[in-house]
Amino acid sequence: MDYLEFFDLKEDPFRLTPDPSYFYPSESHNEVLSSLTYMVEQKEGFFLAVGEPGTGKTTLLNTFLNTKGWKDKAGIALVLTPRLSPEEFLLTVLEDLNVKIKNTNKNEIIRAFRDFLVENSMLGRRIIIIVDEAQSLPDETLEEMRLLSNLETEKEKLLQIVLIGQPELRKRLLSEKLRQLNQRITLRVILNPLTVKETSDYINYRLIKAGKGSVIFKENAKELIHKASKGIPRLINLISSRSLMAAYLDTGKHIKKRHVLYAMRHLSDSCAKKEYWTATVRLSILVFILFCALASAIAINYKEYIIQIMGLFFR
Ligand SMILES: Nc1ncnc2c1ncn2[C@@H]1O[C@H](COP(=O)(O)OP(=O)(O)OP(=O)(O)O)[C@@H](O)[C@H]1O
Ligand SMILES: [Mg+2]
Repeated sequence: MDYLEFFDLKEDPFRLTPDPSYFYPSESHNEVLSSLTYMVEQKEGFFLAVGEPGTGKTTLLNTFLNTKGWKDKAGIALVLTPRLSPEEFLLTVLEDLNVKIKNTNKNEIIRAFRDFLVENSMLGRRIIIIVDEAQSLPDETLEEMRLLSNLETEKEKLLQIVLIGQPELRKRLLSEKLRQLNQRITLRVILNPLTVKETSDYINYRLIKAGKGSVIFKENAKELIHKASKGIPRLINLISSRSLMAAYLDTGKHIKKRHVLYAMRHLSDSCAKKEYWTATVRLSILVFILFCALASAIAINYKEYIIQIMGLFFR
């Protein structure tokens, strides 16, 4: 019997794919999703969302595109490999939007793009460029995007740009070189990790999506998962998945703290493992301090006897 069968689950609840059907709307995820929707609806120019690795940026994007239906409601160029030069970037965007160009002369490309934007604007159709992993965009390509965002009529922006990336992107945008682009960002949001309560709900939510089954994560096990993962969904998935495996090997349906500790020990090179060793070092220091305190208390209370005993030896 494999472990999914053992737990009566239809599928693996803690897969690492950014699957929108598993999207859990935490307060922060909800806020970013609503801001993104608002930005598109209001035809704001530039949107920036940043979050630590594994917080769910790509999952959120997929939810926006598929579940919220924007894939059909707007013309969207989705750039997933942003290490592109300005020219490569432009060509990728045009290809995604199905804009035909006669030659690859840059002026010609920009002209064709502008015509396309004006046509769509007249039809009331929004055109959006979305860049995931935007922290990897070279400065020159970011600058090219700024120039593209200048394409507008007297009344409205012709193009909306969404940048999603890791927190270093925000720092880069503060640099002198990218100051002008930074000023154009109309809406910026941060995707935060989950709270303790959300981590617990998130685990239950994923289990329900995967068929509920007969698994029960003990509350203190979930608290430990939150502590080890710092509320980052990718790490929660990794630890929870390993903990399930540990319980399966134990032939138990309850996930206990010891299963989580087992998972943390066996996860290589991740925050979870760091957290495990930090906890171990902290505990050793605490034991050492307690030992010293106890030894000092004994030494103070029984000073006379100790001096007498030492005297016997060193006479
Ligand atoms: N709100 C959420 N609901 C359900 N699953 C989530 C959520 N957020 C993240 N996850 C899960 O966490 C994992 C990592 O998510 P994702 O790949 O979207 O993170 P990311 O922020 O894009 O990471 P990176 O910075 O490395 O690209 C995936 O397995 C995904 O299913
Ligand atoms: Mg991602």
